[in-house]
Amino acid sequence: MKYVRMPIEAESPEQVGYERIRFNLCESSMRDRPLSDLHLDPGEFPKLLLAYGDHMGHPGLRERIAAVSGVASDEVLVTAGAAGALFIFATSLLDRGDHLVVVRPNYATNIETPRAIEADISYLDLSFAENYRLDLDKLAALIRPNTKYVSLTCPHNPTGAMISETDLRAVIRMVESKDCRLLFDETYREMAYEQMLPTAASLSERAVSVSTVSKTYGIPGIRVGWLLCRDRKLMQLLLSAKEQIGICGSAVDEELAYQAMLRRVEWMPWIHRRVREAFHTVRCWMEGNPHFEWVEPQGSVVCFPRIRPALTVEFDRFYQVLNGRYGTFVGPGHWFEQPRSQMRVGFGWPTPEELAQGLQNLNQAVQDVLDGK
Ligand SMILES: Cc1ncc(COP(=O)(O)O)c(C=O)c1O
Repeated sequence: MKYVRMPIEAESPEQVGYERIRFNLCESSMRDRPLSDLHLDPGEFPKLLLAYGDHMGHPGLRERIAAVSGVASDEVLVTAGAAGALFIFATSLLDRGDHLVVVRPNYATNIETPRAIEADISYLDLSFAENYRLDLDKLAALIRPNTKYVSLTCPHNPTGAMISETDLRAVIRMVESKDCRLLFDETYREMAYEQMLPTAASLSERAVSVSTVSKTYGIPGIRVGWLLCRDRKLMQLLLSAKEQIGICGSAVDEELAYQAMLRRVEWMPWIHRRVREAFHTVRCWMEGNPHFEWVEPQGSVVCFPRIRPALTVEFDRFYQVLNGRYGTFVGPGHWFEQPRSQMRVGFGWPTPEELAQGLQNLNQAVQDVLDGK
């Protein structure tokens, strides 16, 4: 493995220091919740036995995940975040030189782990000009007889673009017919603005889904995600990888994730309302915006606008002004191997007031740079 530190992690808000950030528009999740939101039973929680747990993950938690994912609980493997799930999947399926197809841009780990393994990667590039639409013909052309898997993320990070259920089913038919697999990173699945897709794993044994409690529920500080896999032989391999990495998950994290899942029904209406309101704020900001243009997202709490190409803006200066003068942080394009004229704007984490001011600051920073200030 050839590990390289990813800019999205090295420059993440927790590494920069939250105290430096006044307007945090660089997160891809809902706002972080305090432990008190879980309303733990003060009589019961301290009795939690700090033993090794079920290697597949807390049984109650797996049942809850299975119930919202259309699979059985023994088809759920709890992992250390979706990041852990992606690592387990890539390292279990790939050796040096093995071929895979990965959509780009993407959440960095989806690309960086195969790179660290020195796999042979074909990129399926999505573009602004094509509304970040997945082109099934291009995908089909990239799959080779020895392709191990196709890696897609939906809703997409950093753009919030989605594919339709018809296209998802077409991709699944494609990987089935070509004898490879689909890795479907559906971390933002529950934040689709209209119809939520079925989990890919529920549609085929050749598809493996990845998700997490980090984003929709806003609890990334417990490191709990999961893999869904209906291929029993592959599941054994994924479990073997998990056992080699850490035997089982953290008893505390998994109990907290279980408690969060028990609250899910109560939380979801509030989450959906917040997503809708924040999306509306960003959409209004974008209407007639003199400095920015975008492809409107269809799900998640991120979008990937760009500074209008007609404006001659020095991008390093723009980020200096945005961060230094306005205390406003976004995810710059280079986090996603894209031009720095583009940036991921996360709108689920800030309060409504912080979001409104942060968006104004984006325009102000461009204008300052144009005015030579
Ligand atoms: C698409 C995607 N997959 C996986 C992850 C990792 O999430 P987790 O906090 O569950 O490790 C992220 C986090 O940003 C993400 O955006």
